[in-house]
Amino acid sequence: MRILGTGSALPARRVTNEELTAFLDTSDEWIRTRTGIAERRVLNEESVLSLAREASLRALENAGLNADDIDMIIVSTAKGETVTPATANLLQGEIGAHCPAFDLNAACSGFLYALDLAQPYIDSGKAQRILITCAEAISRLCDWTDRSTCVLFGDGAGAAIVGAGEGLLATRLTSVPNLGALNAYHDPGNNPFQEHKHPASYLHMAGQEVFKFAVSTSSADLRAVAEAAGVGLAEIDFFVLHQANMRILEAVRTRLGQPKEKFPSNIARTGNTSSASVPILLDELNRSGALTPGMLIAMSAFGAGLTSGAALLRWA
Ligand code: COA
Repeated sequence: MRILGTGSALPARRVTNEELTAFLDTSDEWIRTRTGIAERRVLNEESVLSLAREASLRALENAGLNADDIDMIIVSTAKGETVTPATANLLQGEIGAHCPAFDLNAACSGFLYALDLAQPYIDSGKAQRILITCAEAISRLCDWTDRSTCVLFGDGAGAAIVGAGEGLLATRLTSVPNLGALNAYHDPGNNPFQEHKHPASYLHMAGQEVFKFAVSTSSADLRAVAEAAGVGLAEIDFFVLHQANMRILEAVRTRLGQPKEKFPSNIARTGNTSSASVPILLDELNRSGALTPGMLIAMSAFGAGLTSGAALLRWA
């Protein structure tokens, strides 16, 4: 399986760190030094669906395909446009595709989960081309009075179309149950027969616990996919990592003993866009011409669950 095309979309509204200081006890200096984030994009006129649509259409154009060429749509989102139907079904209508479509939620690791899920369909020939779109609006999950979470996130969508070819060399997914580290509860509804309901809640995070998990799991996952593919870390051209925190990226890089230029980053402009993070960065690299055929690209993401995912691919 290989990647045939990529696309991405960000909301128009930029929100700088300075703007956050108007209603939060924080500072540009704190956010920059602790996270590497200078600004993020936040939904205003857009929706999760409109971002998904834009990123998907760009990926189709980049791949030179039409919506009718797509055999399956997988949307990764932590909070889709609607509870039901899935955002993937709505996206299908927006782009005019006729194929099975469904959402998956593996939090920030969603892109890697979707890639892994797509591979047997492509390898077996059951599907020729699969659209993977990660569309996230964590601004809808954040408590905007909680300075320890809302400063970290941004909204956006990233998409990739996969099809047959020599490309994906290895993948690895992990999951360990951990409710306390990162969670948000749905509205429990008004079922009169249920006495004890957990109220809906905003995103809650144990920052340092997630930080430690991220560094250890991402380093281990990247080593594992390199080993599975029989590739030395030094041979890898780019490490495209989930843009959660610049210090996490730096710690993983140091553990792997790799140079800075192999770790591209857009976190300063985007913040953490959850599962959209890796495909947005991949699309930016693709469109900038940084990716040339034959390059080895390692990808890694981690998030609520706790989940993690990594992949090693040869750019085709
Ligand atoms: N502005 C100013 N101060 C802030 C702040 C903000 N936006 N957010 C937290 N603080 C304060 C805390 O209240 C605490 O104050 P105290 O010492 O008076 O109690 C102090 O800063 C240190 O907090 P701490 O949580 O120890 O900071 P940290 O160095 O661990 O950085 C995170 C916090 C959230 C940036 C860091 O833990 C992190 O990035 N974790 C991973 C998060 C992540 O990536 N999640 C998504 C994964 S998909």
